[in-house]
Amino acid sequence: MQRMNEEFTDHVDTWYRLAEEKATQYFASLYKQVMDKSYVPALTEDFQLWKSKHIQHSWLSFFSRGKRKPNSRDYHRYFQWLNYRGKLDDYLDRSVSYMYMRDLGKDMDSPDTKTRIKRLVADIKNQLIHSTATNRGDQPEYMSLNGLYRWGQKEGIETAVIWVIGKLKNVSSNIPKEMNAEHAQRKLIKIIIGVILHVMEEMDEGISPAERSRRLDEAIRLGYSYGLTYPFIDDLLDSGVLNEQEKEQYSQMIRTALLTGSVPELEEWVGNNKDLVYYVHSELREAFEYIKRHQRPETQNIFFEQSYVFFHSQDIDRVKDLSNANYTNEELYLPIILKSSSSRLIVRSVISAPMDEGFDHRTFCYGIYNQLADDFADMFDDMKDEAVTPYTYYLKYHTQRTDLINPFELYWAVISHLIHNVYHSDAKTREVILDRAINGLKRCKERIGIEKYNEIMEIFASGNPEFNRLVQHMVRKADDVDFFDKLLRDQMVINLKNSRTEKEDFYDTIKTVRQQINSMLHIPKHNGIKTMEQPLIDAANYSLEGDGKRIRPILTWVMGVNEYGLQASEIAPLLRSLEYMHTASLIFDDLPSQDNASTRRGRPTLHQVENIATAELTGLFLILRAIKEQSSLDHYNAKTVLALMQYSAEKTEEMCMGQAMDLQSKGKALTLDQLNMMCFYKTGIAFEASLIMPAILAEVKEPEIAALKKYAYHAGIAFQIKDDLLDMEGDLLILGKPTGKDVENNNSTFVSILGPDGARKEMWEHYCLAMEALKEMPRNIVFLKHLLNYMINRDR
Ligand code: IPE
Ligand code: IPE
Ligand code: MG
Ligand code: MG
Ligand code: MG
Repeated sequence: MQRMNEEFTDHVDTWYRLAEEKATQYFASLYKQVMDKSYVPALTEDFQLWKSKHIQHSWLSFFSRGKRKPNSRDYHRYFQWLNYRGKLDDYLDRSVSYMYMRDLGKDMDSPDTKTRIKRLVADIKNQLIHSTATNRGDQPEYMSLNGLYRWGQKEGIETAVIWVIGKLKNVSSNIPKEMNAEHAQRKLIKIIIGVILHVMEEMDEGISPAERSRRLDEAIRLGYSYGLTYPFIDDLLDSGVLNEQEKEQYSQMIRTALLTGSVPELEEWVGNNKDLVYYVHSELREAFEYIKRHQRPETQNIFFEQSYVFFHSQDIDRVKDLSNANYTNEELYLPIILKSSSSRLIVRSVISAPMDEGFDHRTFCYGIYNQLADDFADMFDDMKDEAVTPYTYYLKYHTQRTDLINPFELYWAVISHLIHNVYHSDAKTREVILDRAINGLKRCKERIGIEKYNEIMEIFASGNPEFNRLVQHMVRKADDVDFFDKLLRDQMVINLKNSRTEKEDFYDTIKTVRQQINSMLHIPKHNGIKTMEQPLIDAANYSLEGDGKRIRPILTWVMGVNEYGLQASEIAPLLRSLEYMHTASLIFDDLPSQDNASTRRGRPTLHQVENIATAELTGLFLILRAIKEQSSLDHYNAKTVLALMQYSAEKTEEMCMGQAMDLQSKGKALTLDQLNMMCFYKTGIAFEASLIMPAILAEVKEPEIAALKKYAYHAGIAFQIKDDLLDMEGDLLILGKPTGKDVENNNSTFVSILGPDGARKEMWEHYCLAMEALKEMPRNIVFLKHLLNYMINRDR
């Protein structure tokens, strides 16, 4: 083992040396172009050609004034505007072309690529127009979980989609606070999409649907497995979460994995981040094993080679110290050339794609362009963090180190090199790269303000005033240089942040409302009470005091008070009645004649601590108490309350029928329709009632009632499917009720009939249908969206 390691170490040193030689040559050629300034005439000519499409004559812009361009954050109106002005096709074309160049490493002038780009542009346009026509202005369809799941269904990869949604959720809840969770998620999603795109690109037209599904399923898992290294290797080591010693131990572990081809066991971890490191270790190990298992033997070596170059170049780059004044240009740029190119080269070896020299060459040359563009945008943040990038280093040392290459000049030299030497002066390449470059500067200027922008330009553009004047002229005047992926990026970060705060609000709400509800459930024993009623009241309170989630009355509270403006104190009897009815149904459900359960809400069931007869009578008592509560809703008009009570009685009857169906179906192979019906009756109805009863009191109109019922139907069934899944895989201590009951009772459930994966798919189907029902609602009720997420993600 020791010997093999040594051999291996030699091996990886060779890998890195070879990669470095290649980077040295590339850097030398770029350096020469900076020194002889050959990029200046080349790009000046390029801009002359380019600008005709981007700079309008002033008399033309005079005519097109009036309808101002909406901010792209208002994506809905923005797309409509682009479409209306006939700009949508060009917008999508440059965005998709850029993606083909950057992410897929394609040559722009191949006819095949052109056809594919055209087709994809048409596809996206179609979807955008469709989704802006139907969307009410909340989250874009293509960024919502139901949109994602619907796509998964179309491709036949639901299981992988459910899997990755769970994984992303876990990552986001495990990201330490010091790191940016939204950006970690965004990066990870971006990598997954990148891998999927590569896999799609590799598929022929004639591929069978089953094979297509199989490959996409694999792409999602490979994408996640590779993408995980971004937040959990590079970002984690860049952040201040781990201390120096932990970082050392952590890096050593990664290195060993790459040297030996398998992730070592985690030794005792000293430091404050034990839990985090345990999670990351097990997740990375699973990911690493997955990638390895899916490697073809021919590409396995390349995969390890590129991974090593990627990791090692990042490592060298990371340990640089801004206070060190002596880095040479090579020391600054070689690791950057290597890390930025290997991160993209790896994607093809992750999916075991066949060798493609053209791709390798283009991608190798392209990486540093992207890196210099990103580092430019992040310059001020990096300066604050004292991170070494070409820009921060130049800012700090350019006066004392005249030998330092100006990164901004190098940036333009790379652009010229790409257009003319790598993509052989192809017109499309010129178009999209210059669009992108000018867009980057425009965005930067907007973000940091004109003053600061001019200040840095003063420094970076000093060597070449004339060329810089041309560039700045373009930045001021040129239009139509924005990109879809930038919009998506901004949108995604906004969305992730919004959902995070919305989710926090949701949890705050249910916590406070639950406390209020808990404080009103107790059934008092006042002086005049008949002595024979007392034991039943005690028994009812015993069941009520258990640790119930109170979802039904919480739902009623939020709808009634927050949405319909009812007074909490005035609907208190309704809230009590809902929880009394529900608790009664649980007491009956647990009886030996039904599910025969010994634990409920974290304590022994009522028939265990008392006896069956007492439990039965307490159930009845609670139902009647619920009716009595309803009849005391004296702030509402009598007819409305009667209508409410009639509705309530009807729903309770239906719930009884649901329970009867459940008991009769033991051991029977129900159809999907029968399962849905049974679950709606036994469980969904109670959610419907919780939504409809406050709506009755608030005299809400019929179309909204219909949408609420539809939502309740699907949310209720999704809730029961989750309950069935928890019965199989949940934890008694968290659930507060026994698991394995359904198997024990030979119950016919979604899980017993469809299996866990099938049940999960059905749950997601109902999740999507409930989300879609929310879109039909006349008002946007954020709480209902998060309630649904909570229902399918809960662990109790
Ligand atoms: C349990 O309901 C009965 C089902 C409909 C599955 P809950 O899961 O809401 O139970 P508590 O009220 O929190 O105990
Ligand atoms: C119960 O379904 C539905 C009721 C209305 C009581 P389950 O029997 O699966 O509920 P749990 O799992 O016992 O809570
Ligand atoms: Mg039951
Ligand atoms: Mg039960
Ligand atoms: Mg159950």
